[in-house]
Amino acid sequence: MITYDPATVPHSQMHGILLSGVAPRPIAFVASRSPQGDVNLAPFSFFNAFASKPPVVAIGPAVSVRSGKVKDTWRNILDTGECTISAVTHGMLHQMNLAAAEYPHGTDEFVKAGLTKANAETVGVPYVAESPFAMECRFIQNIELFRDEGGNGNIMLLRVHRIHVKESILTDGKIDPRKMDLVARMGYHWYARVTPDVCFELPQPGEKLGIGFDALPESIRTSPILTSNDRGMLASVLSMPPREETFATVQSNADSIEHELIARNPRSALDAALRMGKTDIWTLHRIARAFLQLGDVGSAWQTLYLAHPDVAP
Ligand SMILES: Cc1cc2nc3c(=O)[nH]c(=O)nc-3n(C[C@H](O)[C@H](O)[C@H](O)COP(=O)(O)O)c2cc1C
Repeated sequence: MITYDPATVPHSQMHGILLSGVAPRPIAFVASRSPQGDVNLAPFSFFNAFASKPPVVAIGPAVSVRSGKVKDTWRNILDTGECTISAVTHGMLHQMNLAAAEYPHGTDEFVKAGLTKANAETVGVPYVAESPFAMECRFIQNIELFRDEGGNGNIMLLRVHRIHVKESILTDGKIDPRKMDLVARMGYHWYARVTPDVCFELPQPGEKLGIGFDALPESIRTSPILTSNDRGMLASVLSMPPREETFATVQSNADSIEHELIARNPRSALDAALRMGKTDIWTLHRIARAFLQLGDVGSAWQTLYLAHPDVAP
């Protein structure tokens, strides 16, 4: 493990290190307007939502370390108290990057980047019409970060007054991340694209208190076959399920454990193991793992009880 102390690492290096670990970050495409009326558009990945009642988001426009110049976005929001934030999709990646160029004050990056202005309802700043998700925001507060130590950061808190969502990203009335094609900023010059194949659902446990790793039998906690995620799923049950005697009854005429595991068919793999008498601990752990990969925690526990009859409650 390499350990960094920000006090002794040059800023240029610290920037890359910090932002590689604080990732992926959503990208806010922030539109603002100067008191003279000039529209400005720039991306900010120091960005997130911090409350939903009422909705509050924050962006972090920095003061340039090189030139000491403040961002037009920051100045405009302080001056006029308004902005819009549009989500950045993969389809507008290069337009977003173009809008990040340091064009002179007064340049309209909607024009430079070839993006379309959509009229907002509650603020006098347009949002990006091509974006499937956009917010109208009003300035709450700016926090200057450690200026007395030469710090260059800001946190701008913004209250959201309207949210616009394209119907094309909905499934059954809910926003579907698989339809948004968002891009996120990683460290250095890396980005990530949120394609449908990388999206998955995982409900929060809330009041459901899993038994925890500490309650897992030793043989399961130390299994070289099961992964930490496998153990996490097993430890999420509210109590260890009772043993089902009928689980060890052969249900099919499957005869190849390997074949059935490759076919992601753990029940048939178990049948083959039972039929062939190949019920050693590690074979059963592999079959239990295959059940877990299908989200079938109950069958995984029953399979593990076959490997360790003594641990069943
Ligand atoms: C993906 C991406 C994310 C960025 N995030 C930030 C950020 O969080 N804070 C910041 O100060 N600059 C950030 N930048 C740089 C600004 O977009 C850039 O300095 C821009 O010129 C500022 O425009 P403005 O002066 O018109 O506000 C980012 C650039 C890119 C490409």
